[in-house]
Amino acid sequence: RIPKYVTALRTFPSRVSGASFTTRLVEAPQLVLPSGMYPPDHTDGTWVWAYQVDGRPPSWPGVSVEATRGTPTTVTYVNALPRSSRVQPLLTVDQTIHWADPLNASKPSQPYTGPVPTVVHLHGAEVQSAADGLPEAWFTADGRHGPAYTTGSATAQNATVYCYPNTQPATTLWYHDHALGITRINVLSGMAAFYLVRDKFDTGRPDNPLRLPAGAFEIELMLQDRLFDTNGQLRFPDGSNPDADLNGPPSNPSSHPFWIPEFFGDAMVVNGRTWPTLAVEPRRYRFRIVNACNARFLRMNLTDPANASSTTPPSAVACWQIGTDGGLLDRPVRLNDPADPNAPKLFLAPSERADVIIDFSGLRGRSLILTNDGLFPYPSGGPPDPNLDGQLMRFDVTQRLSSTDTTYNPATGAALRGGQNQPAAIVRLANPTTGAVAAGVRPTVKRQLVVFEQETVDCAVSDTNDGPLEAFLNNSKWNGLRDGTTTPIAGGKANTGLYITELPRVGATELWELLDITDDAHPIHIHLIQFQVLNRQNVDVDGYRAAWAAAFPGGTFAGQQCDGTFGHTTYPAGQIIPGYGPPRDYLTPNADGALGGNPGIGPFLTGPVLPPDPAEAGWKDTFKINPGMVNRVLIRWAPTETAIADAQPGLNRFAFDPTAGPGYVWHCHILDHEDNEMMRPYIPVK
Ligand code: C2O
Ligand code: CU
Repeated sequence: RIPKYVTALRTFPSRVSGASFTTRLVEAPQLVLPSGMYPPDHTDGTWVWAYQVDGRPPSWPGVSVEATRGTPTTVTYVNALPRSSRVQPLLTVDQTIHWADPLNASKPSQPYTGPVPTVVHLHGAEVQSAADGLPEAWFTADGRHGPAYTTGSATAQNATVYCYPNTQPATTLWYHDHALGITRINVLSGMAAFYLVRDKFDTGRPDNPLRLPAGAFEIELMLQDRLFDTNGQLRFPDGSNPDADLNGPPSNPSSHPFWIPEFFGDAMVVNGRTWPTLAVEPRRYRFRIVNACNARFLRMNLTDPANASSTTPPSAVACWQIGTDGGLLDRPVRLNDPADPNAPKLFLAPSERADVIIDFSGLRGRSLILTNDGLFPYPSGGPPDPNLDGQLMRFDVTQRLSSTDTTYNPATGAALRGGQNQPAAIVRLANPTTGAVAAGVRPTVKRQLVVFEQETVDCAVSDTNDGPLEAFLNNSKWNGLRDGTTTPIAGGKANTGLYITELPRVGATELWELLDITDDAHPIHIHLIQFQVLNRQNVDVDGYRAAWAAAFPGGTFAGQQCDGTFGHTTYPAGQIIPGYGPPRDYLTPNADGALGGNPGIGPFLTGPVLPPDPAEAGWKDTFKINPGMVNRVLIRWAPTETAIADAQPGLNRFAFDPTAGPGYVWHCHILDHEDNEMMRPYIPVK
C-alpha cells in the first residue's frame, strides 16, 4: 500500500520559454512514490522515459513550455532512449497490432527488445502537418524512421525539428508521444508535458489584464493513473497473465496477446508523484489541468474529510471552470455546486483540459481532497475505490496570506471575454444554450461517422477464444497517411495505397455526427483545429444496426481480420478492407445528406436535442461521445478566432498550408483504443 499525502506536489515555477531549444527523450529515475516505498536495490526511484526540456533535469512530466502567441517556438526533439533499457522489459509491446515496428519484423520474437520508436505531438496545436508529430513520423535512437518522418533541419537521424507557429489564442496545450500502436506505452512511461500558450491578455504575469492568478498562484496539474510493482517500477498489465509475472508466456500468440482494451491504474499520480499535497494560501489559485490517463475518465469534486458531510458547503469552497481545450470561456462556469445537483462537474476525459479557479479564501487550516467518482459508461475500470483511485491529491490551506488577493473573482460571474482589456467573445458556431447551429453559420458538409468496437472475435487461427478486440472509427482501420509525395488524391481514394475518407476543404464549416454504438464513452480528438460541441441526441441503436444490415447484406460492422501472422497488411488503393463488408461509397451523401458511407441516422433519432454541458461551451479539440447517442460538433477548418464571415470554403487563413504534407489524424484518445485501429487519417484539401 502506498501511503497518501506524504510528498509535495511537483510544480514548474520556472518554465521553458526560449524561441528555440532541444528536448531530449531520455531514461531516468524519479521519486514517484514516497521514498520509503522503494526497496534497497531501487532507492533511486521509478525508472521512466522522460522529456529533458532545454537542458533542465529530465522529468515526468517534462518541465512546462510557455509560448507567446505570434512568436514561433522551434524545438529539436532527440530520441536518446538507451538500447539497454530498464523500462522496456517491464512494458510489453504487442507486436501483433499495427504499430511503428522499427525492425519491420514479420515474425518478431517476444518480448520486443528493439529500439523504441517515438514522435512528439503538440496536442491541440494549430500546426503544419510536417510538425504535427504524426503516428508514422516516428524515429528511433539508432536512426530508424516511419514513413512520415522528416528530419526538418535536424542533422541527426535520431532527431527532428518542429516549428510551432503559436498562432492560436492563449490556452493549455500539452504534448505527448504519438508513435503508431505504442503510444499507450510511451505515454504511460512518462513522455508527456504541458505547453502553455500566452497572449497579450493572459500573459502569465501578475499584472495580466484579466487579473487571473499568476506566478506561484498558477499551477499545472497533470492527472494520471498508474500501477506499480513491488520494486516501485511502472507496471503495465499485458493480458497474458494478469495477476502474475508480467513477462509470462503469451497465451495466444496468433492474435493480440498483449493488448488490453483499456489501462487503469489504482494509484493516482499528479505531476509525476502519487497522491501529493499542495500547501496553499487562503486565496484564489488558477489550475491548468489535463487528464493524461490512458483510458480513465475523471469526474472530480473537492471534499473535506474533516467535515462530516464530506462535500464542503458552497459558501466554504468554490471552484469555477474558466477555460477549455482551446482557450478561455466567455464566462466562468461554477463547478460542483452542492446547491445544484445538476451543476456541471469538473469532468475530464483523457486529453481534455480545464482551466480552473479554486477559491481557498476563508479556509485557513482546512484540507481539501480532490476526489474522483468517474463511472460507467465513462471508462473508469469499475467504481473507484474511495481510498485509491477515488482520490487524486490534497490541498492544505496552511500558508499565511502573503498579500491581498486582488485577482479576478469568478463568483461575481464577470465576463472573461468581450470586455475592455479582454479577448473578443468566442465566435459562436453553436448556440451553447439551445444546442442549435448559431445564426449565420451554414455547415456545407455533414458527415455521419459510426464508432464501435469489435468485441471478442473467435479467430480461426487462434488457439483460444480470446481473439482481438479492436476499436474502429467509421468501420475503418487506421491505414496510413499520404506518403511524402505530392500524389493527388482522387475521390477519397488515395492512389498511394491508402484509403482516406475525410477530405475537408480548408475554410469550410462541417457538421460531424459521431454515432457511438459501443457500450461506453470515448474521447474523440481532431488534430489541427478547435471545434465546438453542438449537441447530443439519443439513437435507437438496434434499429440503426438493422438498417445497416439491410443496406449492406452480408456485411458486418467491421467483422474481423486475423492475419494469422504478426504485422499488418497494407490494403491496395480504393479497396474496402477485406472482411469489413461490401465497399461503401463514402463520398455520396446518404438520405440524411451526410457523407461517410453509412445509412442515415435520421429515422432512428429519439428524444430531444441535448445542449452541451456549460463547461464544454468553448473551443474544444477533444470531446466525450456518449454511447447510444449521436454526438454532434461543428468544425471550421480555419484558425480558432476567424470571424464567421471570413471563413469560406477554399480560403486558407492559416499561417501555413494545411493541405501540404502527409495530412492529419482524428482518433479516440483512449490510448489503448488509438493504438489498436481507433484512429483515422484526414487530409485538408483546397
Ligand atoms: Cu493527444 Cu492525436 O493526440
Ligand atoms: Cu475509444
